[in-house]
Amino acid sequence: MSMPKIRSLRNQLVLALCVLVSVVGVVQGISSWQLAKAGMSALLDLRLEQVATRLYHSGLADALPTTPARGSQPERDVYLTVWKDGISTPYRSTDPSLPLPREAEPGFTNAMVNGENWRIYTLREPSMVVQVAQRSRVRQDLAEARSLNTLWPMIVLVPLVWIAVLLVVRRALRRLTRLGRQVQAIDMAHFEQLSTSGVPTEIRPFILSINTMIERLEQSIESERKFIADAAHELRTPLTALQLQADNLAPHIAPGNQERFRELQSGIRRSGRMIAQLLRLARADAPMKADTLTRVDVSEVVVDAVAEVLPIAMQRGIDIGADEMTSAFVRANDADIGIALRNLVSNAIRYTPDGGKVDLSIQVRDGKVWIEVVDNGPGIDEALLPRVFDRFFRANVQIEGSGLGLSIVQAIVNRYGGEASLRNRTDGQSGIVASIGFPSVP
Ligand SMILES: Nc1ncnc2c1ncn2[C@@H]1O[C@H](COP(=O)(O)OP(=O)(O)OP(=O)(O)O)[C@@H](O)[C@H]1O
Ligand SMILES: [Mg+2]
Repeated sequence: MSMPKIRSLRNQLVLALCVLVSVVGVVQGISSWQLAKAGMSALLDLRLEQVATRLYHSGLADALPTTPARGSQPERDVYLTVWKDGISTPYRSTDPSLPLPREAEPGFTNAMVNGENWRIYTLREPSMVVQVAQRSRVRQDLAEARSLNTLWPMIVLVPLVWIAVLLVVRRALRRLTRLGRQVQAIDMAHFEQLSTSGVPTEIRPFILSINTMIERLEQSIESERKFIADAAHELRTPLTALQLQADNLAPHIAPGNQERFRELQSGIRRSGRMIAQLLRLARADAPMKADTLTRVDVSEVVVDAVAEVLPIAMQRGIDIGADEMTSAFVRANDADIGIALRNLVSNAIRYTPDGGKVDLSIQVRDGKVWIEVVDNGPGIDEALLPRVFDRFFRANVQIEGSGLGLSIVQAIVNRYGGEASLRNRTDGQSGIVASIGFPSVP
């Protein structure tokens, strides 16, 4: 198993429990196998002993022939030998004769006879010695065949327990995985408290502290946003006054200073636009109030946006129009969609050279309404494209702008669970395809 996998809590638990179960299973299996073997050999011993005592007490020992039939006994049988006092040839149950050790200790002994191991029970009585023997190999085979059966329950049970462990652990940790996904989904636009219902008690404190953290994060981001909004708002008034004063001053500027004065005026205008964009961004970042949502007609928004830039477009000889206009609706705050679209249209007009072409279209696909703005300007260097949505990022510093327009677009689409994208045209022409998509409503 690879390292990152073993770090998962689930895999660790499953592995540890499975190893544990296996060890218990193997130990239990071996010990019950050993016990069964011992029990079996005790039974076989008992049989040897019983045969010997029966032989002696029933007087049958006297009836044994000294010359038994040849090859009369099967291999697995017990072999009998009776030694009478004063007689050197024993009475025996087998031929060829098995030279059992007559001097063996009373009770059970193991001995090597004719190159084979034998288990022998010796009964020593005053009038005779009775010996009953069985091949150790036969006894072993018998014991092993029986005792192997005791392993079956383990062999079946252990894998079953493995599966059970896997299922139980996975089930217990599924909730944790789900929580992980929820935490991952948290971003600037979606601060959602994690629910503690159905959560194991061990994990509850963890979730509570994550929730506290989310709350604090939300508060600090909100206070930063408020500060920016307030600052931008406060700056607007003095800047308007400044603009007014500059305008009043215009007729009194000496002809030699006209050029520098115009620069001053355009600087003031630029600051004004920057502050207005900052304010829009702060508003777009604000938490959305659900009660101000209305059903917005997207084609109306597009028509308005085109109408608004038409004078500038005409002045610069840019052909702006909307070709594909599907009727579509989204749920949004009144002005949001318009602000997002106007930023895209203003980019298209601003970065497209005089005499260019800008096309708007509305499409509905995958449950989203897509508004697309296509221009035939220079496009954007592919290396810089991923950064255009960053705040204050400007790919083209020759043309005036604050670098906030696309950040505003991004903030607005985030708000509605939409998407925004900017890419270079791939139809052989230069230019940008800027699109925003919002969840569509009937
Ligand atoms: N249609 C486009 N064609 C070429 N470049 C573009 C286009 N749209 C955006 N850009 C590039 O992306 C940069 C970021 O755009 P963004 O709208 O965020 O800022 P801006 O236009 O500079 O300022 P603002 O919109 O706030 O006045 C721009 O500076 C410009 O270089
Ligand atoms: Mg812009």
